[in-house]
Amino acid sequence: MIFTVAIDGPAAAGKGTISRAVAARFGFAHLDTGLLYRAVGAKGGDPVVAALSLCAEDLAREDLRSLAAGQAASRVAVIPQVRAALVDFQRRFARAEGGAVLDGRDIGTVICPEAEVKLYVTASAEVRAHRRWLEVGGDAAQVLAEVIERDARDMGRVEAPLKPAADAVVIDTSVLSIDAAIAAAVAVIERARA
Ligand code: CDP
Repeated sequence: MIFTVAIDGPAAAGKGTISRAVAARFGFAHLDTGLLYRAVGAKGGDPVVAALSLCAEDLAREDLRSLAAGQAASRVAVIPQVRAALVDFQRRFARAEGGAVLDGRDIGTVICPEAEVKLYVTASAEVRAHRRWLEVGGDAAQVLAEVIERDARDMGRVEAPLKPAADAVVIDTSVLSIDAAIAAAVAVIERARA
């Protein structure tokens, strides 16, 4: 059975939490594609070389969830050759036997336009920054500024900009609990599988 759930959206919208829950619920594999870009940014040196030589060790670094790694990721993510180097792996993962959930920025628009389910998970910048601040701590105003800066870069880039696919179902988590957001995602997937 080939079945892809594409989950896109801006920084700290809850994509990761929803993706993990949905993957566990349906027994699908899960790929956090942001981790690929974070690993490329964190590796340093020429980002295209880093993307072409990405290995499991690079993805296991402990510093990938930091604000700095998020900023570095969004800077290398504007480079078309970096994105191109990561496409095949993501496409194969998406269409592998057994079902897959991928979360990122361009899964429903570029990586897997044929995905059976496309979700666009979003929330206000303030709510998202607060969630990220709970994870990373530090200066709350700086976390908000970083979230806004990264969103602008991700939405404004020429190659694979962040935007909802025309056929995506939007889940706004500003006023939804985690459980309600997961339930909304599960309902969409169950409808598509029926
Ligand atoms: O967890 P969070 O939503 O903050 O970010 P992430 O999903 O780990 O992604 C980090 C950065 O990688 C994003 O800001 C994007 O610039 C880039 N990215 C991308 O361009 N395409 C993807 N499919 C996933 C991430």
